[in-house]
Amino acid sequence: MRRSSLFTAVTAFIAFQKVETVYPINDLAVTPAMGWNNWNAFDCSVNEHLLLSTAEKMAAMGLRDAGYEYIVLDDCWSIGRDKKGNLRHDPEKFPHGMKYVAEKLHSLGFRFGMYSDAGTYTCARYVGSLGYEKQDAQTFASWDVDYLKYDNCYNEGLSGTPKITSERYRTMTEALKATGRPILYAICNWGEDYPWKWGHTVANSWRMSGDIYDSFDRPDPRCPCTGDEYDCPLPGSHCSAMNILNKAASISHTSIPGAWNDLDMLEVGNGGMDDEEYKTHFSMWAALKSPLLMGNDVNIMDAKALSILNNPAVLAVSQDPVGAPAVRRWRYFVNDTDEFDQGEIQMWAGPLFGGDQLVILLNAGNNSRTMTATLVDVFRVATGIPKEIKEDWDIYDLWANRMDDATAQSVIDGSTTGEDGANVARFYYNATKTSYKEGLAANDPLLLGKLTGTVEAGGAIETEVPRHGVAMLRLRKRSANISSETLLAIQHA
Ligand code: GAL
Repeated sequence: MRRSSLFTAVTAFIAFQKVETVYPINDLAVTPAMGWNNWNAFDCSVNEHLLLSTAEKMAAMGLRDAGYEYIVLDDCWSIGRDKKGNLRHDPEKFPHGMKYVAEKLHSLGFRFGMYSDAGTYTCARYVGSLGYEKQDAQTFASWDVDYLKYDNCYNEGLSGTPKITSERYRTMTEALKATGRPILYAICNWGEDYPWKWGHTVANSWRMSGDIYDSFDRPDPRCPCTGDEYDCPLPGSHCSAMNILNKAASISHTSIPGAWNDLDMLEVGNGGMDDEEYKTHFSMWAALKSPLLMGNDVNIMDAKALSILNNPAVLAVSQDPVGAPAVRRWRYFVNDTDEFDQGEIQMWAGPLFGGDQLVILLNAGNNSRTMTATLVDVFRVATGIPKEIKEDWDIYDLWANRMDDATAQSVIDGSTTGEDGANVARFYYNATKTSYKEGLAANDPLLLGKLTGTVEAGGAIETEVPRHGVAMLRLRKRSANISSETLLAIQHA
């Protein structure tokens, strides 16, 4: 979603004042991009029909209206260059050409995402854009492309320092800018050379890890870094959701509106994790403000996957207008004998629109357990006592109003009414009609989840969290105030 003209005016005013602040590269991705990408489910098997039928299905299931607007084509779509050096699409896979795909997607209310590589070849060894940036950006613009994923294979050794890598990627930033077309720029260099330090001056998002695969926490030699190290010389592939999350923990705060850490495409619905694990994966990607690109085959979408991907209360966290990624407040290792010996629990928190606060209790251990988050930890500040702990807070559970399986199945089957005869559309949000920001400002109950309790000033939230699951909560201030005696007691605790 675009930055408002007020923001542009404010930016211009600040620039006029010569304040030394670096702003993101364009007015796109003010909230993290949402959409679908074919890679996780289809690999190189891409064609026009896949993109267009996926878009139609997503629109029918309410996913376009929920905000999943970019349909992103990944690797393997071209057959080299013509005599003038212009990229050529594969005519067998795309018989009507790319502009046609863009037109069709636009008419369905989507935007079109394209893929290339900041190297001589793409990762699947199709032709890359290194040295052809201007020409290729013009080609993409002439095809009415709205988004570019830009990969890192065959980069001719142009990496190894932030300067070398960022300059290679910046050539395309400038080339895209020169086209005059707004094109969201999503770079994909797997976290090499610390893109979280310079990415906001180059792109709208940057991949910060090796490729995801459809496992909650299984280690794999193809993803050699454990996730705990800041430096990862070989990002690799087959990185589990927990591996990526643990890597993101030290850098999540570097995301800002318009420029986000990209934790890679979603695996929800691909079958390698159980329901709790997919809920956790989705919750954490939303809380950290990663782009949310669905990575499943929507033609075999099951009810549980749909009710995860289209949970408005969680999407409202992803698309929250404050744009502040959750940060990890604590992490403990636990002694459950986990299959992969990675038992741990974590608490994440961060500010939300309207003074609300997000709290996530994550149980990556092998047993379900009772978990506790104190308000002190939830609102922790560097020194002193956070003022928020003097308040009472209502607790909204963001998963409690999840669509039930029967309703989700009705949506998948294309029916407008569920088993109870009521319109299924009431279970999901239409962000194309009313933005998440407007919905939150109006306290739309779909976006708030379910009020399940209260935590008193100075107190703690205690809740049961299933194995590999999360409690994802929105705290909203009540009016009551803490007494000075309680405050004193906390201060001396
Ligand atoms: C990888 C990238 C994947 C996918 C693949 C295509 O480098 O991280 O997301 O785009 O290349 O070959």
